[in-house]
Amino acid sequence: MGNKTAIITGITGQDGSHLADLLLEKNYRVIGIVRRISTEPPSRMRRHLWDKVTQFPGDLLDSVSIENAINEFQPDEFYNLAAQSHVGMSWKQPELTSAIDYFGVLNILKAIKLLKPDTRFYQASTSEMFGKVEDEFQNEKSRFYPRSPYAVAKLAAHWLTINYRESYDIHASCGILFNHEGPRRGKDFVTRKITLHVAKHKLGKTDKPLELGNLNSMRDWGYAGDYVRAMWLMLQQDEPDDYVIGTGKSHSVRDFVNAAYAAIGISITWQGEGVDEKGYDSTNGKLLVQVNPKFFRPAEVDLLRADSSKAREKLQWEPEVTFEDLVSMMVEADLKEESN
Ligand code: NAP
Ligand code: GDD
Repeated sequence: MGNKTAIITGITGQDGSHLADLLLEKNYRVIGIVRRISTEPPSRMRRHLWDKVTQFPGDLLDSVSIENAINEFQPDEFYNLAAQSHVGMSWKQPELTSAIDYFGVLNILKAIKLLKPDTRFYQASTSEMFGKVEDEFQNEKSRFYPRSPYAVAKLAAHWLTINYRESYDIHASCGILFNHEGPRRGKDFVTRKITLHVAKHKLGKTDKPLELGNLNSMRDWGYAGDYVRAMWLMLQQDEPDDYVIGTGKSHSVRDFVNAAYAAIGISITWQGEGVDEKGYDSTNGKLLVQVNPKFFRPAEVDLLRADSSKAREKLQWEPEVTFEDLVSMMVEADLKEESN
């Protein structure tokens, strides 16, 4: 092993930074595709990666930039982590979401086919594709029923990846990853929104209640650092394939709130139902959490819970960080960040 070249799209995002850490540890040459928007690209990249990763200007919407990257670096592996990844936003920007999350993948696959067909390709598929679930645990054979423009675009890209594998013999694999989080999570995803608010509350930086949408959604939350190992493992297999990656345990948004406040020594008492549900500090009765319908989605995914037995058996992949440890890790990191 060693001296392989990997291209990562989405390197400025949560997973991209964890994957870059992992591949650098394994002595890969890492090329990060970074889009040029109104700010300097390095300002959106994790500081510790600036000098270690080759930054290449590009955008999934610009096929020339993707072709240039493949031509110039002749990658052994190509990890497509770039996306408009916010489910709620996908109703507000459905065309952009489809363009990036579907046509962007087509741009990469056609460039690989044309320019370097032996490149191993990873596509970031998602548990959102299961959507309105019918199985208690979802695995590779479960029915897909996407419930958002994001999930529809991701499902199309998922099938496109499989189609390129079957039509052109490309080593292309899809990781059907369940929610994964950590201190590098974007601030508008629910876990990080909660831990950031809890940290600010603890430090006396806010006395407003935390406003959330659907408290009843159940998600299978794992740690991003564990999940990028699975991505890499998929591309080390002789045969390309698709794998479900998750912990097999599911918690509600309300459970996450309870665990985050517990991490700073506060227990919550819940009262009311639906939009009237509120969470109070059990010790002093202060209002800490309330529902704001503006965070509801036009269609919701009620429950996600992974059956990752295929990945556990074939990839020997296991998650290491528990739900409780994940929540504490995120609260601690936000306390540190907010103290600076
Ligand atoms: P993230 O933090 O939102 O990062 C998204 C990345 O995509 C950012 O680096 C962003 O760059 C980049 N990007 C967006 N549009 C682009 C474009 N047109 N061209 C090039 N780059 C573009 O997402 P994440 O949580 O790391 O997730 C990584 C991937 O896994 C995504 O595809 C997501 O849909 C999928 N996924 C995530 C989870 C999860 O729980 N995290 C679960 C299943 C699947 P900028 O910095 O320029 O915005
Ligand atoms: N973002 C957000 N903000 N979500 C909220 C809020 C809020 O204020 N209040 C409740 N929720 C609920 C959402 O309605 C959803 O049911 C759940 O919390 C999780 O929302 P997100 O953290 O935004 O994640 P997601 O599950 O919709 O999508 C994430 O995971 C997918 C994998 O299943 C993203 O990372 C996707 O890119 C990824 O594919």
